[in-house]
Amino acid sequence: PNPLILDTDGGVDDAQALLMLLANGCAPTAITTVFGNVSLPAATRNILATLATAGVQIPVYKGAEVPLEQPRIDAKYIHGEDGLGGAPVPDDIGQAQEQDAIAFLCDALNGAADAGTKIDLLLIGPLTNLALVLQRDPDAMKGIGQVTIMGGTVYGRGNTTPAAEFNIFADPEAAQIVFAADLSIRVVPWEPCMSHAITGAQVDALFADLPETPVRRFSKALADHARRTIEGYGGGDNFRFVDPLAAAVVIAPEIVTRSVSACVSVALGSGLTRGMTVVDPSGRLGTPKAELVEKADLEKVVDFYANSIR
Ligand code: BDR
Ligand code: CA
Repeated sequence: PNPLILDTDGGVDDAQALLMLLANGCAPTAITTVFGNVSLPAATRNILATLATAGVQIPVYKGAEVPLEQPRIDAKYIHGEDGLGGAPVPDDIGQAQEQDAIAFLCDALNGAADAGTKIDLLLIGPLTNLALVLQRDPDAMKGIGQVTIMGGTVYGRGNTTPAAEFNIFADPEAAQIVFAADLSIRVVPWEPCMSHAITGAQVDALFADLPETPVRRFSKALADHARRTIEGYGGGDNFRFVDPLAAAVVIAPEIVTRSVSACVSVALGSGLTRGMTVVDPSGRLGTPKAELVEKADLEKVVDFYANSIR
């Protein structure tokens, strides 16, 4: 398999998605951070804290602080003031690299292209960093392998607005640049994240009898926060796989049991549909080359999750 770079906005489920990659033989070779759930410095701190909790060293590069054209939004109302729902983090979390994420990605991707290899990308935040890379250095694209994105919707049912999902709504212009690029893109939209869920009781059973390690304590706090959030929105005591579903698909692409091929465009006008992903399997808007995941083997996802909380 190609090396993997993770691009993340450091929220509650981003942290768990990272632990899932680490625990299931898919450690990223580097991580780039982006504003999103929280500010860029907070997202970077959260990723460093997650790595320190797991006792793993992976270089972290800071990327975009703001969207391409619109003002920055965040999702602290979902992820908590710190972006980790108050989960306990170690005091010593190390530091990010000096080089910024865009320069790093351009170098790494060009290096791969020169060597005749490719790097896979998993993006679980706003798509600003990759859009900036494509704008700055179109040749870098030659070094990109499979791109997996948690973002957008397949049937137009968003979480941030009725029509738009957070990662796309946070920077629609960037998302449009990425979806328009000649890349091999796999999307994990919001709707399957809603339907790939387990009950609170199932989560408790996974945590029961696990030895009290830093990773267990951290993951438990993340899960508790996610459950409280869903309950607060009237969804009962349930736990949904969002960024971890995208991580699971990267770990084992064969767990996808249903997907649709489509051309994805992003609505950029102001008003009700801004940031909506317009999904066209018919070919009228362009070649249907993005693969949108609709269903995956939930048991496998739960297995990967169980491995990541120990
Ligand atoms: C996405 O936005 C964030 O809240 C999550 O981390 C996920 O990447 C869901 O809309
Ligand atoms: Ca995220």
